[in-house]
Amino acid sequence: MNGPCPRIPRHVAVVMDGNGRWAESRGLPRAAGHRAGIDALRRCVNAASAAGVAALTVFAFSSENWRRPEREVRLLMALMGRALRRESRRLAEHRIAVRVVGDREALSPVLCRAIAAAESQPIESPRMVLHVAFNYGGRWDILQAAQSLARAQPDPTGWTEEAMAQHLSMSDLPEVDLLIRTGGEYRISNFVLWQAAYAELLFLPTLWPDFSESSFAEALEMYAQRERRFGKTSAQVQAGAVA
Ligand code: IPE
Ligand code: IPE
Ligand code: MG
Repeated sequence: MNGPCPRIPRHVAVVMDGNGRWAESRGLPRAAGHRAGIDALRRCVNAASAAGVAALTVFAFSSENWRRPEREVRLLMALMGRALRRESRRLAEHRIAVRVVGDREALSPVLCRAIAAAESQPIESPRMVLHVAFNYGGRWDILQAAQSLARAQPDPTGWTEEAMAQHLSMSDLPEVDLLIRTGGEYRISNFVLWQAAYAELLFLPTLWPDFSESSFAEALEMYAQRERRFGKTSAQVQAGAVA
């Protein structure tokens, strides 16, 4: 194939950042930003599904977000439960499967039940998988994968990258092709560290509650302009040598 690759990314990951600043700039409490963030997530899911993206992974609560004021943490937990209860049927109707990735140990039994209910919605031939990363950290993921691999294969001398990848969250998905972060910061914040090793990175100034379906379309256009080389030379890629 010549020129930039026009393909749709199979797996898009999103750091949904900027809810607090969006609210504060309007003189509203941060909670209003998180609520508006759920509407933005709905738009993002619709756009990704319509574009034919196979997997969308969104960062909703990081391992480090426990450091926020207790009230905000409680609100984020409540919003997650409510969003799962309210949205999962509609998502299933649109053949979008929901999976929650992250450490569930610290989550309340009520939230764990909402997660289990959302994940068990029956869906025939899903058109997209939505992974919600909640109490998720890339380092946690790599550590739990290593522990799980150690149980399966106690002698580490035979470990391979492929075997490690099979024990990570989202092992059933292709690696992340496109990682979008809204909110204007240029960092990964302990999101999908292993899975995004070769992702195209896109940092947008847009605050997450302002993210629209056309923001997603623009992100896909920018992705299509990128040349993914995977270690090869540009000449090799231009000659269609990408495996
Ligand atoms: C992202 O928005 C949502 C979560 C981290 C849960 P923030 O709450 O981080 O918003 P800013 O970065 O303070 O604007
Ligand atoms: C990253 O946003 C986590 C989520 C979007 C859930 P943060 O706002 O927590 O990231 P930092 O702390 O500014 O890097
Ligand atoms: Mg933030």
